[in-house]
Amino acid sequence: MSKFLITSALPYVNGVKHLGNLAGSLLPADIHARFRRQTGHEVLFLCGTDEHGTPVELAAQAAGLPVADYCVRQHAVQADIYRRFGLSFDHFSRTSGEANRRLTQEIFLALDKAGFIEERTIRQAYSPTDRRFLPDRYIVGTCPHCGSSAARGDQCEACTHLLDPEDLIEPRSAISGATDIEFRETRHLFLKLTALEGRLRDWLATRHDWPPLVRSIANKWLQEGLRDRCITRDLDWGVPVPKPGFEDKVFYVWFDAPIGYIAAALESRPDWRDWWQADDVTYLQFLAKDNVPFHAISFPATLLGAGLPFKLVDTIKGFNWLTYEGGKFSTSQRRGIFTDTALNWCPADTWRWWLAANAPENGDTDFTVERFVDGVNKDLADIFGNLVNRCLSFAASRFDSTVPPRGGPGPIERKLESDLDAHLTRLRSHHEALAFRKAAEETRAIWKLANAYLSEAAPWSVIGHDRDRAATIVNTGIGLVRIAAQVAWPFIPFAAEQVLNSLGEPVTWPKSADALPAGRQFRVTPVLFPRVSATMER
Ligand code: 2FM
Ligand code: ZN
Repeated sequence: MSKFLITSALPYVNGVKHLGNLAGSLLPADIHARFRRQTGHEVLFLCGTDEHGTPVELAAQAAGLPVADYCVRQHAVQADIYRRFGLSFDHFSRTSGEANRRLTQEIFLALDKAGFIEERTIRQAYSPTDRRFLPDRYIVGTCPHCGSSAARGDQCEACTHLLDPEDLIEPRSAISGATDIEFRETRHLFLKLTALEGRLRDWLATRHDWPPLVRSIANKWLQEGLRDRCITRDLDWGVPVPKPGFEDKVFYVWFDAPIGYIAAALESRPDWRDWWQADDVTYLQFLAKDNVPFHAISFPATLLGAGLPFKLVDTIKGFNWLTYEGGKFSTSQRRGIFTDTALNWCPADTWRWWLAANAPENGDTDFTVERFVDGVNKDLADIFGNLVNRCLSFAASRFDSTVPPRGGPGPIERKLESDLDAHLTRLRSHHEALAFRKAAEETRAIWKLANAYLSEAAPWSVIGHDRDRAATIVNTGIGLVRIAAQVAWPFIPFAAEQVLNSLGEPVTWPKSADALPAGRQFRVTPVLFPRVSATMER
């Protein structure tokens, strides 16, 4: 048994997230956490809301609430949605909490002491119309790299380049739209990434097994050359900077947000050091590609520079984009399907299945209602649901809802067992390799194999003349239903648990050869996946 620390990117607290956020970090992290727990490992799965930064302040202003109140409310909304999606966090934290404030300040002080912080006077965007500085997303304009007209002061989402507000072409205020932007001098603190580059390169060289998407983004960054990053902001909301002369500033959201992963453990686990300051833990991060630079470069550099004994990430699993009907999901334009509406429309398992089976791993995935409806009806209603239903209904009616005894295996059972072993071995290695589409494909293949066995063995044709043989087939069939549900559990935990509960079986990783104990009573589950349609009310 080993220990796995698993984190999913912390969603910004500003409003309900869309399916893309679920597909590109929260859901795969949950599937992997479930797989590791199921295979007997110790898991600490952490997430939380990212509560600082200008997007949150802008959203609170739009909602007419003080930002602290807004965060309390929106954290609760997201926590509830993720619970209903079956996301099995061990703790769902908040970066505006006390633990994160303390840790962020401690890490900063260590960096400062080690000489990796530098004071500089910089020119910051200031809007006389708004009578304030406009850091990060308070200012928008055209990206100098790709020409997108929606680039923000800190990053261009279209091409993922990190930006400084002065890089923007035709800048304007995100608050008022004012274009009378001036650049005024103000004192700020910089993290000297240039001084940490050597250590970072040495460390990254030990991470050669990262998936290609993540490695290529990290390498591109190194090739372009690291720049020192300003880690403070002229804002009120955030972690205060513990340095004389900087009392009226806070840390940049991307400085304190990843520290929130550590804080989530600290505030919820007395044994948090056994996870964050231990050698026997594998640390996996799940995130979308725009987050890679922060997790592969700036957060590791922060920890390396601070010299405190916190774990660095072992593997980063990055995802491409989920697009919506050929275009982008957009929170600001309410384009796409949002996680709250999704749950009103279809059960959590259907979304979980489709998004995992079509995970944007090797390229973007286009979500269309048609593909979703088609995919879940085929896989969940016709294959998995049908398997469970036809097997348990027949067994209940002909064997009085009691598992019948299994006699010696015939040739088809022997073949079944060896096929099943091969599938289970492959499935396990796909999960271990964080290959979600392949793991879903293999899971589907196991469901199909079980259906094919029942069709071929046809207990309904045998029972009339050979009840013992029919009993063996039904015992084997119920065993297959159990295995189908156990391998389904990381993907569709609600339905899988319903099936396993009805059989009195645990959610453990299956063994192909185990016979179900004869004489056990079972229940027939109601239809697990009624067919969905594109015209269902949302
Ligand atoms: O991109 C985002 O949604 C960020 N809120 C992710 C933060 S991940 C971590 F570093 F906190
Ligand atoms: Zn760009």
